[in-house]
Amino acid sequence: MSTTIIVGTQWGDEGKGKITDLLTKEYDIIVRYQGGCNAGHTVVVGDKQYIFHLLPSGVLHNGKICLIGNGVVLDPEVFFEEIISLEKEGISIEDRLYVDYKTHIILPYHKIIDEISEKEKGELKIGTTKKGIGPAYVDKYSRNGIRACDLIHEDSLERKLNLQLNQKRDFLFKNYKIDLSEESISEIKERYYNYGKRIKKHLIDGSLFLDENIKKNKNIIFEGAQGIMLDVDHGTYPYVTSSNPMAGCACTGCGISPVYIDNVIGICKAYTTRVGEGPFPTELNDSAGEKIRKYGHEYGATTGRPRRCGWFDAPVVKYANRINGIKEIVLTKLDVLSNFKKIKVCKGYTINKELYSYYPADSEIINFIKPVYEEIDGWQTEINHILKFDDLPNKAIEYVKLIEDLTDCRATIISVGPKRSQTIIR
Ligand code: GDP
Ligand code: IMO
Ligand code: MG
Repeated sequence: MSTTIIVGTQWGDEGKGKITDLLTKEYDIIVRYQGGCNAGHTVVVGDKQYIFHLLPSGVLHNGKICLIGNGVVLDPEVFFEEIISLEKEGISIEDRLYVDYKTHIILPYHKIIDEISEKEKGELKIGTTKKGIGPAYVDKYSRNGIRACDLIHEDSLERKLNLQLNQKRDFLFKNYKIDLSEESISEIKERYYNYGKRIKKHLIDGSLFLDENIKKNKNIIFEGAQGIMLDVDHGTYPYVTSSNPMAGCACTGCGISPVYIDNVIGICKAYTTRVGEGPFPTELNDSAGEKIRKYGHEYGATTGRPRRCGWFDAPVVKYANRINGIKEIVLTKLDVLSNFKKIKVCKGYTINKELYSYYPADSEIINFIKPVYEEIDGWQTEINHILKFDDLPNKAIEYVKLIEDLTDCRATIISVGPKRSQTIIR
């Protein structure tokens, strides 16, 4: 039996989808444990690109079992869309895709509230994906949530939906003069009864299922969404998502004990990106940032927004390694830096002349943060065909070693392109 948690070590979009898909061949079960369809995980197989928002990225491997854990917030519309679009490709997952009974469900009013609360915040907006993630987690923690198991019991669903729809209707009307009409309310009810009928066959007790499979010595991979700096507790609050991507929460997000976790792998890009608002010490608002965006195709996989780009921030990844117990990192998108004469790496910060080797926990001082860089020469030659570490240009090897030194972690896999084959295993 072997279990591995995959976490993003930056602000998301590190390449978790590619690496989860790559590692899946060694595993039997792939689990998503938090977040929702705010995630966009890209897997490229041959010339075909798949973007998964909800389904675990190992789903393309025939016969592998996929579980959406209780820690996820599930939008049934997206769930069924993803199943149908895979079926159109001839990939059947009906009998190997499970959802925990306890998974909370996103309803249309969550998306409306997400949208208007962003508008209301004006300049202080977070830049959410507007998928209703935050409001769905608010309902979960205020004990107003509707869960997957509620969808399959019509009587109690009727009661719970009536209560929620009436409350949200009043709230939206009083505060925003948005009127959920009788028709739209009965349309929502009808739609969610139908989702209940369709989702029933996927529902299981995920915690029990995983426990049984751990005892059968099965290998399990837990696929985190977002990244550590978007963690609601340990990220750049309030510019974060509403869940805990960190490895510690993989256990609560699917109901297994931490004693069963063998390994945590951190995925990091060879530079840094961020979508949405919030602090980003190494951001480049110049032609170098544009060059990274252009060569890295840095546009959101969920919203299409241009990603903010900057140099590699070692204190961020070192922090992610510390709080997740990461033993090995996967360095992705090294190929994107191939066209740079000079490359910078942030190895610490100064704030009011004081030196910081970690991202500061006191967010009030973040406005004064200045990255301290080490500059190295680039390798200036394409590397996206290279399959062995020692075949990389010396300067690229030096870059990887510098990152390893600064983050106290060994890079065991280096990704040099979006395809499965464009991967160096050390
Ligand atoms: P995730 O959210 O962490 O799964 O990452 P995304 O899928 O949102 O973003 C990563 C993007 O980079 C996707 O378009 C991938 O196809 C692509 N990608 C992954 N690894 C590499 C790599 O090593 N090189 C290049 N050029 N692209 C990569
Ligand atoms: P993957 O799994 C990058 C960002 C949003 C916003 C903030 C809050 O593909 O790495 P939310 O909709 O979650 O309330 O938005 O979090 N965000 C992501 N950024 N990758 C993601 O997922 C993200 N999921 C959310 O841009 O800044
Ligand atoms: Mg993504």
